[in-house]
Amino acid sequence: MTTNVLLETRKMGVSFGGVHAVKEVDFTLREGELRCLIGPNGAGKSTFFKMLSGQVTPTRGECCYREQVISGKRPWEIARLGIGIKTQVPSVFEGLSVRENLWQAAANKLAKAALPAAIEQVLEDIGLVDLQHAVLSELAHGQRQWVELGMILISKPQLVLLDEPAAGMTHQEVRKTAQLIKAINQQSTVVVVEHDMEFISMIAQQVTVFNQGAVLAEGSFREVTQNPRVKEAYLGNLEIKHA
Ligand SMILES: Nc1ncnc2c1ncn2[C@@H]1O[C@H](COP(=O)(O)OP(=O)(O)O)[C@@H](O)[C@H]1O
Ligand SMILES: [Mg+2]
Repeated sequence: MTTNVLLETRKMGVSFGGVHAVKEVDFTLREGELRCLIGPNGAGKSTFFKMLSGQVTPTRGECCYREQVISGKRPWEIARLGIGIKTQVPSVFEGLSVRENLWQAAANKLAKAALPAAIEQVLEDIGLVDLQHAVLSELAHGQRQWVELGMILISKPQLVLLDEPAAGMTHQEVRKTAQLIKAINQQSTVVVVEHDMEFISMIAQQVTVFNQGAVLAEGSFREVTQNPRVKEAYLGNLEIKHA
């Protein structure tokens, strides 16, 4: 694993009317990291995430990806640089099958001859070999999320941004999602926004804690969950199990 800086924000923030949703965040992400962003509701996690992906344009500061300023670019321009995004609402093709969705995701990224084998591999990774011909609208919530993770996996972005990939999942589904994200991290740098602490404990390496539009703390899962300021602002009396 290299330690090159992949993405960096400098005093980046955004206000909506008078609301400073994200204040002035300095954030550094290195190649190969699996970084988790946590924090209470309304802390600015999703807004920060959307500034990285181009869905929200910062009103101050900037964001650099591989030393190129990307703040102000549109989402598709950012995607073209090799950044894959999974938002809180899955973006899958409802009328297509699992297999067809994977095909769509990979068609302009891989050589045609390489597609079938890549699709077989990802179907196995996401555990949906038996359901490969099922139409997306027939799938359960967790299965749809995995199709979207599979679409990211197959297109091999350099950086993967995931907003609450385990939201609404059962315990079993959460475990599988954690494994999938670790698999994605084998080939991509990953940023995950999540508030399910059990899930975070399964995947976390470095954690950044947001509170009131700013970074409250940063460190290993253990460091941040034992940080008194984090406990006060976010965790309260939540009992944290250390893996
Ligand atoms: N488009 C918007 N317009 C106005 N306020 C917004 C908008 N998006 C987010 N906010 C506000 O910004 C703050 C941070 O929201 P958000 O980033 O969704 O927090 P989190 O994801 O940590 O729960 C909240 O106060 C929210 O109401
Ligand atoms: Mg959010």
